[in-house]
Amino acid sequence: MIVNVPNAIAMLNAGSVVGIPTETVYGLAARIDRPEGILKIFETKERPFFDPLIVHVSDIDQARNLALEWSPTAEALAQFFWPGPLTLVVPKNPDVSSMISSGLETVGIRCPWHKVALEIIKATGPLAAPSANKFGRTSPTSADDVEEEFHHLVPVVDGGPCEVGVESTILALEGNRLRILRPGLILPSQIREFLKSIDEAILLEEGELAKTTHRSVASPGNLKHHYMPAIPLVLAMRKLPHQEILEKTALAFLKLPEEIEGVRLLKPAQVRSFAELMLSQDPRIAAREVYSHLRALSRNPVDFILLEWRPEWSSEDWSPIIDRLKKAASCILL
Ligand code: TXA
Ligand code: MG
Repeated sequence: MIVNVPNAIAMLNAGSVVGIPTETVYGLAARIDRPEGILKIFETKERPFFDPLIVHVSDIDQARNLALEWSPTAEALAQFFWPGPLTLVVPKNPDVSSMISSGLETVGIRCPWHKVALEIIKATGPLAAPSANKFGRTSPTSADDVEEEFHHLVPVVDGGPCEVGVESTILALEGNRLRILRPGLILPSQIREFLKSIDEAILLEEGELAKTTHRSVASPGNLKHHYMPAIPLVLAMRKLPHQEILEKTALAFLKLPEEIEGVRLLKPAQVRSFAELMLSQDPRIAAREVYSHLRALSRNPVDFILLEWRPEWSSEDWSPIIDRLKKAASCILL
């Protein structure tokens, strides 16, 4: 159900959930001070409660109020990169519901640059919003995608196709050590360069915490399998003849467990045909298109989607896209 901005604001104020556009992907939003709305987010997405929500703000003042400790580094990063696709994970103010933070002592905050999102948040106050898709599935990059995902049952504001196309970079701030929990359009090299200009002593690390640390301390939602399209995606790490692709894929599916980390893996009933995912040579365009291509290919009467690895994808500017594709893939052919 497409709704206009005034109606969306009224619904959010009344404690409902509304699909809203952001520059990265569409979010499923609720006011942070409406517990029934927050609960509805988890129910609608069928999202486990261990996976915390990002809070969206319209300015840095709102962010400061959500944080228990807003360090000079957080302030500098927000001043420089906001509005934009960077989420800052900071110690949370006790007023922020533990349902939002999944019981963690931190909260993820970001200020989107999408004009419609900002207009709505200015009227409602901070909004908790995960991507507007069922848990573990491909994120929506248009209002139509949200309509399809929730069978027209969730109100959504149409703000056009998303400019960025993949979710925000998540950066956790722990004193002088910063860690990228999820790659996004804002790249490690950009963050590193900026940090150097403010304080040489700040260290930037990438990836989740060491295996010895419990995963919940890092990014609980950063599961191995995520972003999955409606039919399985198979990633081939080199060019293979058609027949070999079918044989290797059939074998890989046989060996695949039913589920990993609570996410059910997709397996086709047969392995006879596939459609190939083609991406632009330009990583900015590829990011913008990747989820909509996956959705479109899933509508084909084929058994799986094939993606053939390209050597240039090892470079940093491809990292957000490759991160998503590796997680979206049910299996990888070596
Ligand atoms: O671009 C985006 O970030 C989009 C748009 C809608 O803003 N949102 C989004 O939300 O991708 P979601 O819920 O699909 O992914 C948020 C990720 C989850 O993996 C979650 O675990 C992590 O952020 N996260 C949220 N709060 C966190 C926290 N306090 N500590 C660590 N990770 C956190
Ligand atoms: Mg998501």
